[in-house]
Amino acid sequence: MTRDPTEVFVTGATGFLGHYLLEELLANPFVRCRVLLRAPIFESSARLGELLADLGLDLTALIAEDRVSPVEGRLPDNISRADIDGVDLIVHAAGNTTFRSNGSGEPLRTNVEGTRAMLSLACLSNIPRFVYVSTAYVCGERVGHLPEKFFHESPPLRNDYERSKWEAETLVWNWACDSGIATICRPSILFGDSKTGRATAMKGLYVVAKATEILARAMDANSETNRHEIPLRILGRSDATCNVIPVDWAAQQIAEIALEPATESSVHHVTNPDAPTHAEVKSWLEAYFDIAGGQFSDETWPLADANHYEDLFYSLGNICLDYFRNGLTFVSRCAERIPPGQRLIDRASFMQCMKFAQASNWCRTPRATNDLRPPSGGFDPTWYFERFLPTAVPQSTVAKVEELTAVVQYTITGSIGGSWVSRFERGRLKETYAVPCALTPEFEYRLSYEDLVDVVACRKPLQEVFFHGSAEMFGNVERALQMVPIIGEFLKEFPVVGEGKPEATRKGVAC
Ligand SMILES: NC(=O)c1ccc[n+]([C@@H]2O[C@H](COP(=O)([O-])OP(=O)(O)OC[C@H]3O[C@@H](n4cnc5c(N)ncnc54)[C@H](OP(=O)(O)O)[C@@H]3O)[C@@H](O)[C@H]2O)c1
Repeated sequence: MTRDPTEVFVTGATGFLGHYLLEELLANPFVRCRVLLRAPIFESSARLGELLADLGLDLTALIAEDRVSPVEGRLPDNISRADIDGVDLIVHAAGNTTFRSNGSGEPLRTNVEGTRAMLSLACLSNIPRFVYVSTAYVCGERVGHLPEKFFHESPPLRNDYERSKWEAETLVWNWACDSGIATICRPSILFGDSKTGRATAMKGLYVVAKATEILARAMDANSETNRHEIPLRILGRSDATCNVIPVDWAAQQIAEIALEPATESSVHHVTNPDAPTHAEVKSWLEAYFDIAGGQFSDETWPLADANHYEDLFYSLGNICLDYFRNGLTFVSRCAERIPPGQRLIDRASFMQCMKFAQASNWCRTPRATNDLRPPSGGFDPTWYFERFLPTAVPQSTVAKVEELTAVVQYTITGSIGGSWVSRFERGRLKETYAVPCALTPEFEYRLSYEDLVDVVACRKPLQEVFFHGSAEMFGNVERALQMVPIIGEFLKEFPVVGEGKPEATRKGVAC
């Protein structure tokens, strides 16, 4: 028996969820997908090709077989109606997950205006069905056992992201009243692949894990405090749950719901019915990073008397409060299909996800853009401080460290030396100048050219250079010490590799 293929228009296919979703949709041999990719399309296609290859799919072959058609566009204002004409179903998974509005107008622009644009094209092209990927946290601060229902009244929303997702749901629901069938899927917090631990974005629970790693690193370099007795207040309740779900399971559920024929609009929670508690997550993280001592506390951030370890742990932001709450559970038809006794996330799968996260350097691979490539002919500190740092810092963990507001001086001693001063504001590197300049540093790091070369190549840990070696700190030494693990993270994320690699440089310059 033959049947006509189902033509699906997919947005967000290059995302953490989206490429798994595309894989699941294509698992149905009767499905053909048009995928929206941002310009330049060759670059986005290459990215999608790499993501799918990790899942065992060959994008080039899928295109040749007419199972996938890349379509260039950007939400909300750069999609052509001709690209949508003739599709049976739109699966709209593109989204911006920034919590607070920034100067670019996100997350409202992509989430609200982007959804509005997709819906108006759906209207013009008479598309009968619209599947929208929302979030379980569109409920805002509500607690209780939440039904799979659209919220006609605005819930008590906590941030711009939640507001944008609720506004988008409202647009989708209203569209359905006049024009078609809406299916709203609400996943909770996405975590790594259930089979491999693989993840392509480090958000949500990964931020807590990363903060724990930063703390563990600080303990590696600290012989005074027992790493199993760290005086850390964990702001949250031990019995609160953390509703994380494996990304592949979420994609499988959403694809199944999308491809099931529907006669009326509906809402689906794609959530974990047996989510781990804070206490469980804490014990798993402690075991993984070999640290302990944290105690749950009802206090709230900022702590008036935060100690050094708390400053470090919370340096990545308000990491525990928003989504790991007690008193919130979800009615979920797809969760009912999980066999009794089987947990979506347990200790073993959590550990596997941690291993992947660390092995992938928290999803960061050193980039080789022109600005990050070292100049040929030897490692040059001027290039490092004036070109490399301004390019790499905004892409790094440092940019997320809201507590980092400081003016820092780096002095490199030796034949190829110099001094530079950088001003950081809430994690952003605002300016860097060679000394003399008008900025007054709060503290200073001083190290030799040889140590710098080793440190930027990750051949010598920064901590080792400061605590056992030649490097020194001046000015507000306590603040300087606090920054060492953060700089250590940065060096790991963006090691200097390539042409002017330190080994060659050392031979060429120092000898
Ligand atoms: N991550 C979570 O824990 C989570 C939980 C619940 C719900 N969700 C929802 O699930 C969806 C996917 O999230 P995710 O974590 O997979 O996000 P993600 O990894 O950041 O991926 C976002 C996807 O949307 C595309 N996109 C973003 N802005 C766009 C624009 N203006 N025009 C066209 N495409 C655009 C991105 O394209 P580029 O690759 O070109 O940037 C990417 O393909 C979102 O709607 C999110 O709200 C996520």
